[in-house]
Amino acid sequence: MENTACFLLALVVTLVPVSTTLGDNNKPKNISAVVGRSVTFRCPWNLSIPVYRLYIQKLGNQPLFINGFNNGKKLPVSPEYQDRTEVNQAELSMEMTNIKLSDEGSYKCVVFSSTSSRDIFQINLKVTAEFTTPELKSECSENDGAKKGRSCQMSCSAAGGYPVSDVKWLGLNQSRIRVLQNETAENSTSKTWSVNQTINYTCEHPINVSCDIGGSDSHTITICEAESFPLKVIVAIVFVLVFVMLLVLAFFMMLFCRRQRPQPYRADHQVDGAHIPLDDCHSQRQSV
Ligand SMILES: *[C@@H]1O[C@H](CO)[C@@H](O)[C@H](O)[C@H]1NC(C)=O
Ligand SMILES: *[C@@H]1O[C@H](CO)[C@@H](O)[C@H](O)[C@H]1NC(C)=O
Ligand SMILES: *[C@@H]1O[C@H](CO)[C@@H](O)[C@H](O)[C@H]1NC(C)=O
Ligand SMILES: *[C@@H]1O[C@H](CO)[C@@H](O)[C@H](O)[C@H]1NC(C)=O
Ligand SMILES: *[C@@H]1O[C@H](CO)[C@@H](O)[C@H](O)[C@H]1NC(C)=O
Ligand SMILES: *[C@@H]1O[C@H](CO)[C@@H](O)[C@H](O)[C@H]1NC(C)=O
Ligand SMILES: *[C@@H]1O[C@H](CO)[C@@H](O)[C@H](O)[C@H]1NC(C)=O
Ligand SMILES: *[C@@H]1O[C@H](CO)[C@@H](O)[C@H](O)[C@H]1NC(C)=O
Repeated sequence: MENTACFLLALVVTLVPVSTTLGDNNKPKNISAVVGRSVTFRCPWNLSIPVYRLYIQKLGNQPLFINGFNNGKKLPVSPEYQDRTEVNQAELSMEMTNIKLSDEGSYKCVVFSSTSSRDIFQINLKVTAEFTTPELKSECSENDGAKKGRSCQMSCSAAGGYPVSDVKWLGLNQSRIRVLQNETAENSTSKTWSVNQTINYTCEHPINVSCDIGGSDSHTITICEAESFPLKVIVAIVFVLVFVMLLVLAFFMMLFCRRQRPQPYRADHQVDGAHIPLDDCHSQRQSV
């Protein structure tokens, strides 16, 4: 019962227009947080001045009480922030855990002290979400010799990030990048973005390339590798060499067989032609 009364008191007090004592030395403070992580709101207060009451509220159409204390006692917190916020009375700060994109916005510390009735400080929270590690795919044309260089089609994609981010290509000559496709889509449930950009790039030499989306880097790949052209040539040369060696070998074997022509084995030969000894080579027919 006392808790409910306190909560109502807090609401009533904090709903009163708060701009009255906003000092000009209290410029809004900007802080940022990453989805799923935590952040600490610090009310910019001289801690040697005792504070007997603190409200931290979120601004919106209606200011919303989030957490605070009164005369050293915790104030009842609304269910949404019950498990996610913790006030440190000594430091006049509040930790918020499991940050969501919807936490982005402006917050106020309303500080009640003995020296002045009420001081108000604004803190703006910017929330970001990290993109997944970008996936980099490439497909390069064969080096057909007729045209100089090869044209590579590369795509870089990532998801789950906020705010939406452009794709950066690292290692490439920026003025030679031709964007073929640039897709961005918002996930309406999570409000995060997915990005997929496809480019065309012509290269003559091997290049190590990677891409970056919102500070998240892909692995590095090498395009236009010189290997594929010489490899074919090497295979062809080896093939021809082996063929020539076989020819030479066959030629010498023929010479060798002719010189060492064995005495024809007439009896056997006449009886059964199938029993020609192998080492007679082809000389049998000539000797008949
Ligand atoms: C806070 O951010 C706002 C808008 O993003 C900017 O205009 C302002 O100068 C920033 N304030 C500080 C103290 O950096
Ligand atoms: C904080 O307040 C104390 C007492 O009023 C004062 O002596 C001190 O200089 C203040 N410190 C700062 C950083 O303003
Ligand atoms: C980038 O490509 C352009 C156009 O092909 C060329 O003029 C420029 O010299 C290149 N820059 C570098 C750093 O290679
Ligand atoms: C790709 O799309 C994003 C979002 O629509 C835009 O900000 C960016 O400028 C585009 N980039 C290119 C190279 O077209
Ligand atoms: C949108 O995000 C939610 C929550 O992260 C996820 O479950 C869902 O699969 C996503 N939808 C699409 C179309 O990617
Ligand atoms: C990105 O776009 C390219 C070209 O349209 C496509 O081949 C690739 O599968 C897309 N990647 C993702 C993750 O959607
Ligand atoms: C990429 O560019 C090269 C050279 O400008 C061109 O020959 C090739 O057709 C292009 N590929 C695509 C998919 O547009
Ligand atoms: C690409 O990276 C590999 C491994 O880091 C390195 O050995 C190679 O020299 C690099 N190639 C170019 C063209 O930078």
